[in-house]
Amino acid sequence: MKERIVSGIQPTGDLHIGNYLGSLKNFVELQDKFDCYFFVADLHSLTEDFTPGQPKADQIRDLVKTFVAAGLNPDKCTIFIQSQVPQHAELTWILNTLLPMGELERMTQYKDKSGRQSANINVGLFDYPVLMSADILLYKPAFVPVGHDQLQHLELTNTLARKFNHKFGETFSEVKPYMQKPLRIMSLADPERKMSKSEPGSFINMFDSPEEIAKKLSRAVTATDAPEGEMPKGVKNLFDLLLEFGNQEVYDDFTKQYQAGTIKYSDLKQTLASQIAQYFQHMREIKQQLDTQERQIDKIIADGAVKAGKVAQSTVQEVKAKIGLI
Ligand code: TYM
Repeated sequence: MKERIVSGIQPTGDLHIGNYLGSLKNFVELQDKFDCYFFVADLHSLTEDFTPGQPKADQIRDLVKTFVAAGLNPDKCTIFIQSQVPQHAELTWILNTLLPMGELERMTQYKDKSGRQSANINVGLFDYPVLMSADILLYKPAFVPVGHDQLQHLELTNTLARKFNHKFGETFSEVKPYMQKPLRIMSLADPERKMSKSEPGSFINMFDSPEEIAKKLSRAVTATDAPEGEMPKGVKNLFDLLLEFGNQEVYDDFTKQYQAGTIKYSDLKQTLASQIAQYFQHMREIKQQLDTQERQIDKIIADGAVKAGKVAQSTVQEVKAKIGLI
């Protein structure tokens, strides 16, 4: 039996290349080795400001298409939409009753986001990590592929698993993050911060046109202070991206130029822009084709809800029985 893996991504518009490298790229590699459950975290995205109605529904479907365009194969892995599996919300409530408020007050993502959306600090934003813990524990996975910024949430998941086991008997095992390397793609505008949808000027999207990519990169900050002998963070970020999207030869060539002090950042940016555009070209084309194949997408979503629902329901039944609800 293959070990299980679960992970989700929020539907908040096109994915940026940090999302891709930190999660989706790994999902595609993992689908051959593990029993994988990948979902669109639509309930999570309600904690941020959004436009109600069709725009939200379109973003959700769009993310399913992005999963497929990036190489996820519904015959190999389960792709589903979080809100179509009601056990996510059900287990969240049960886990809520086990967790002291203080544990959530120290979550850095909550502090960050409540600073950014001070007019909308809703209870869901505070409770977000418990929903994420439920997302994970429902599937009893061995690993959870996520980017660096989600590690604190995984620690909380394990805290909740231990609390549940302690009170109701052994039910959940420790989960581990799966990261090929601790990749943290930084903002183009401020290399001290991570690349993020909520920071304008910080990101490049997977499906940006080659011209957009070049334009965004041309503005990327390179001139920041750095300790003696270290690359400035903005430059290091561009080199990291070049290594991910370009080939080793080009990377080595620019490294030599950097070491010799002859590097022109405009050349580095132009080369990187064309490498990124080339890397995503095929995915961009598949994504466009999928926009004309809505029935196929409907089927992926419907099948995914059934498959994920079976596993989730079995865990919730077990949980309810252990607690004494049934
Ligand atoms: P989200 O939607 O913000 O991001 C999706 C994934 O992208 C990674 N990521 C990055 N990786 C590297 N560099 C960056 N600059 C960068 N920005 C984002 C994130 O780490 C994430 O893996 N809470 C999650 C969604 C979620 C989830 C879950 C994940 C909900 N439930 C259960 C795993 C398991 C989130 O907001 O991801």
